[in-house]
Amino acid sequence: MQNPPAVNSYLVQSEPVRERFERLKQRNVILEVRGLGKTFAAQQGEVVALKGIDFKTYRRELVCIIGPSGCGKSTLIRILAGLETQTEGEVLLDGQRVTGPGRDRGMVFQGYTLFPWLTVKKNVMFGRRMNGAGRWEAERDALQWLDLVGLTKFADAYPYQLSGGMNQRVAIARALANQPRILLMDEPFGALDAQTRAKMQAYLLEIWKNVDITIVFITHDLDEAIFLADRILVLKAHPGEVRELIEVPVPRPRSLSQSTTPEFRATRARLDELIHPPSEVTEEDIALPPIVRLTDVNDNVE
Ligand SMILES: Nc1ncnc2c1ncn2[C@@H]1O[C@H](COP(=O)(O)OP(=O)(O)OP(=O)(O)O)[C@@H](O)[C@H]1O
Ligand SMILES: [Mg+2]
Repeated sequence: MQNPPAVNSYLVQSEPVRERFERLKQRNVILEVRGLGKTFAAQQGEVVALKGIDFKTYRRELVCIIGPSGCGKSTLIRILAGLETQTEGEVLLDGQRVTGPGRDRGMVFQGYTLFPWLTVKKNVMFGRRMNGAGRWEAERDALQWLDLVGLTKFADAYPYQLSGGMNQRVAIARALANQPRILLMDEPFGALDAQTRAKMQAYLLEIWKNVDITIVFITHDLDEAIFLADRILVLKAHPGEVRELIEVPVPRPRSLSQSTTPEFRATRARLDELIHPPSEVTEEDIALPPIVRLTDVNDNVE
């Protein structure tokens, strides 16, 4: 097993924020990832997607995972979900080794994954019914979850009748309806426009405040990670390893207006540095493709 990742100490935390992190770390550990590695056997040889990943999440914590494209974020979350098996290390949920998918983990992906032929309410009921709950009980609970995500009025609508943001709220309600211990979210707001995305982030924080749930949330968007997370796990690519674990010093409750505060800006600057280290900019990153001229050379409109 590798050493735990270094926790940042240069982002200055105010006293209340420091105390909040001390209290957080006294809570039960819900998820523990130990020495996790994944090597894919691809046609062109082996791909080491993840190597020596170690971290813990505490009860009711919201952890974001960021890292460059292809660094293994989705692979990691699929292993946590039990949809993929690791080649090294282990994942413990409430101290029990994860060996496959289970009701104790809910998932929300980027693409809309609702069943198009079922109403919103039936989509939310689906998991409960599959797990043996009676129709009445599943329906009563589904309506409660829909109330929580503000969609009671749309219980009998079909997914195609809802906007993208509303579809993702149903997907969250559906994941929570099974009362998982942990919610695993892989770029769930990645396909939404900026305004809807901002609203969904606020919704998620509101839901998280009202439900006893631990969240692992993958994103490409650094501001989204700072707005949502207690801690941010920064991965690096090839192989996917932990670069740093950052305690977000921005106080809660969070609001968009905090994006200009010194804490937010310092965190943002540090994440930028970690995600785009100057030494790792390659020729390929900066070389521009040749530009094809589509007008007559003499047709000068300037
Ligand atoms: N089934 C597979 N077989 C072979 N290689 C795979 C497989 N799945 C993922 N990989 C490789 O593992 C690495 C990590 O992929 P992954 O999709 O987890 O990255 P990611 O961080 O989620 O990327 P993105 O930010 O683009 O979503 C990549 O190099 C990818 O090509
Ligand atoms: Mg991915």
